[in-house]
Amino acid sequence: MSTEASSQTKANGTPVKAPQFALSSRMATGRAMSLDVWSVFKYGTSCWSCLVMLTELVNSAANLPEDCINLGQGYMNFAPPQWVKDAADAALNTVAGNHYSHPKGRIRLREAVRDFYSKEFNRTLDVENEILISSGANEGQYSVWVAWLEPGDEVILFEPYFDQYLPSITFNHGVPVYVPLHPPPDFKNNPTSDEWKIDFDELRRAITPKTKMIVVNTPHNPIGKVFTEEELQKIADLAIEHNLIVMSDEVYDSLLFDGRPHVRIANLPGMWERTITVGSAGKSFACTGWRVGWLIGPQSLIGPTLAAQTRIVFCTNSPLQEAAACGLEQAEQRGYFKKQIEEYTERRDVLVKYFDELGLNYSLPYGSYFILVDVSKVEIPEDYPFPSTIIGRGRDF
Ligand SMILES: Cc1ncc(COP(=O)(O)O)c(C=O)c1O
Repeated sequence: MSTEASSQTKANGTPVKAPQFALSSRMATGRAMSLDVWSVFKYGTSCWSCLVMLTELVNSAANLPEDCINLGQGYMNFAPPQWVKDAADAALNTVAGNHYSHPKGRIRLREAVRDFYSKEFNRTLDVENEILISSGANEGQYSVWVAWLEPGDEVILFEPYFDQYLPSITFNHGVPVYVPLHPPPDFKNNPTSDEWKIDFDELRRAITPKTKMIVVNTPHNPIGKVFTEEELQKIADLAIEHNLIVMSDEVYDSLLFDGRPHVRIANLPGMWERTITVGSAGKSFACTGWRVGWLIGPQSLIGPTLAAQTRIVFCTNSPLQEAAACGLEQAEQRGYFKKQIEEYTERRDVLVKYFDELGLNYSLPYGSYFILVDVSKVEIPEDYPFPSTIIGRGRDF
């Protein structure tokens, strides 16, 4: 693969050929060079994403009208809470808050993560060795793959999955292996996200001597599935049997609906030692652009991941770590997450009401902020002016 030569012109008008450079072969992997859904949907935001299917319905992706609600991407159209933003302001007005942080993360945030999550993991988390602040969950996950993948190592992903996993794995010479989350047999009566199932024999068959890791994502993007303890136990049993690392992406751990409990695979017997749990301030405090996240796990997994992350970003931005710390410190006392769940539940209910009115079936999510809508009934005119970025992609895209 090489970059395209672009021609320039000298002062005398003679065309000069721009030099060509060989592109890193990793750029040919993981669909790294094709436009992702983020780049296709360039305007507007929404608090719920109908990521896979509704995108076809609402607009021609590249021509999104300004007054259109964009359900194509999946992030919030509201600001972080004022008290969290005030903490960001306060941090900007200190000297230390504007300078490098320790690569492990600022101590205030690591302590806030410890105080918030220790009860969740039934242990007192060690701020020096078991917590790593990352530049968003995404970068933290990338660092895990840098630290732990050898060329050819296989990583099991349940399909569908958060799209960033793929290039992050292939950039690190890993090989994604897909295991489907089987959809409900039909969408006639609006199934729930519980009805998307793993076939555990299929999962077992996907494991080979090269398998290094399983990625679990609960609550799930984009199904909204909240994995049950029974499901996680079956994954855990296989991880232990085959000595696999589990990356448990729990960035939506504060967004569960209808009283669903959030089960952490790291808490199942024998799993702490092999699990890295991933969190995100962006998802928790409506500040996805701040790029603050965290990894929680045993020293044996966090230590090398820290070494990798230090080479990638050195450290995460300082003032917004302070603000994220404030968020975790005060969330409980302010009833913040409880209120946030109520607000998202209301939004989910409003959105599904419109699908009901349109006669479109959907899968009701119990967690995260995605709804899958069945658009098989939606007719798309033969001559529909799809933007070129969409042509050739599957109908679901
Ligand atoms: C499942 C999942 N993991 C990780 C991320 C990335 O989180 P962050 O913005 O903290 O990098 C997202 C963002 O959409 C996500 O849906």
